[in-house]
Amino acid sequence: MAKAKIKIYLSEPIGIITPTIYGHFAEHLGGVIYDGIWVGEQSDVPNVRGIRSALVEAMRKINPPVVRWPGGCFADHYDWRDGIGPKEKRPKRTNFWMLRDPKHPEETNAFGTHEFIDFCHQIGAEPYIVANVGSGSPKEFARWVEYCNCSADTSLTRERRANGSPKPFGVRYWGIGNENWGCGGHFTPEDYCAQYTRFATYAYDFGVGVRLIACGPSGNDLEWTRRFFEKLTQGRAGKFRAPIWGFAPHYYCGSAGTALEFTDSQWYQLLSQAAYMGTLIQEQWEAMAEYDPQHQVKLVVDEWGCWHPSGSEINPCHLYEQMSTLRDALAAALTLDIFNNHCNKVAMANLAQLVNNLHSLFLADGHRFVCTPNYYVFDMYKEHQGAKCLRTEFEADDISYTIDGEKRIVPGLWGSASVRESRLTLTLVNPGLGEPLETEIVLVKGEVKKAVQTVLTHRDIHAHNTFRAPDVLMPKSKELGVTGEKFTAELQRASVSKFTLALGT
Ligand code: AHR
Repeated sequence: MAKAKIKIYLSEPIGIITPTIYGHFAEHLGGVIYDGIWVGEQSDVPNVRGIRSALVEAMRKINPPVVRWPGGCFADHYDWRDGIGPKEKRPKRTNFWMLRDPKHPEETNAFGTHEFIDFCHQIGAEPYIVANVGSGSPKEFARWVEYCNCSADTSLTRERRANGSPKPFGVRYWGIGNENWGCGGHFTPEDYCAQYTRFATYAYDFGVGVRLIACGPSGNDLEWTRRFFEKLTQGRAGKFRAPIWGFAPHYYCGSAGTALEFTDSQWYQLLSQAAYMGTLIQEQWEAMAEYDPQHQVKLVVDEWGCWHPSGSEINPCHLYEQMSTLRDALAAALTLDIFNNHCNKVAMANLAQLVNNLHSLFLADGHRFVCTPNYYVFDMYKEHQGAKCLRTEFEADDISYTIDGEKRIVPGLWGSASVRESRLTLTLVNPGLGEPLETEIVLVKGEVKKAVQTVLTHRDIHAHNTFRAPDVLMPKSKELGVTGEKFTAELQRASVSKFTLALGT
């Protein structure tokens, strides 16, 4: 059996893993909102005020901290006023995506601000709303913030009350546009920065503690980052022309076979693409430090995940819907491990997207509903939320593979550890397709009293859950019967493992 060793340093914390690293994203795109979340009050699909009950029930189990909405590219096309007031009077509009794909339905606006806030309340998450910069104005944005957050008696707050919500929504997280280097207006970093400062100037706080998030680069584009911060600081490092809390790069991996068809090499290729997130975080952080040496601004990776070529949709109207296999589950798990280990830099992250889309947690179609393996990863990793991340050292042989005749390597093991009171959570990803990894786990300055191992794996790396076979990929737990400063555990090939360790003194 191949061997590995992990050391966990209990007295060397990296920082607190902010729960919002485990965030979600729901856009008016394909089947995400309509059919995924929103089935409508009159639907015979079980719902509460139009929102799919099965999805709410599943979400509540994984402690969702935050949901980003309404886009994505849709956000810079959206007029928030279309989505408030009596539903029968709401206008029917083109949707950003129907202008690109004729199969995409038009926008009914049945799901708007109140429905989104209701959804967040039902699942127990905070809302994160993205403003329209591309085709909107600072005035429209300022009025949306007032409608959501103001408690004074104004025409807008009376309207909110008349629409069923006397209390303000208290929305803290506001994104100033989405991908404004692309679908959000095709701005240069300087031009976007000028828009950012205008919009941010009019984001009145209303005592809510508003946190403004600027559009970051496509992937690891350091030029966008430098030029944006250069303009925002104008040569005075750490002094910003407008308030800013977060800076949001987007990173997708894919192009390694398709969702369901891939070779062993493409398995490693995709996981290696996912692991690039670590480089992106480090390099973006260093570039931001040139303008913000105290790191007042944190990274908000508000779109991440695997984006495979189309072909595995369950409903042709669900644009970008894809099946998620064990490979996607490992990509999600190792990305969450990377976020945990960079918890001093990453303030929020949002997997794209929640349901019926890219790297989704669920697939839903009418009455049919299933949790993908990505959902089970979020379930396994939820104990990390709000816990203290610990420094770890990993020893495992790299794995070599070949793509287009070129030899490449990928690390043989990923993971992260966190502790809360006397409970330690260690999550590990074994990407290897050969033998299991016999892994020695050493607690430096700590002792295990009880250990439970939970494993998500399958002998077929293409395995996935379907409506007919919903539990092909489900985690399984067993008690290990080990105690002391170290123990040895087997990490099955192609697996995600969680160790829940009760610590002794
Ligand atoms: O998540 C799908 C799309 O990907 C989003 O709308 C956009 O922001 C990104 O390009």
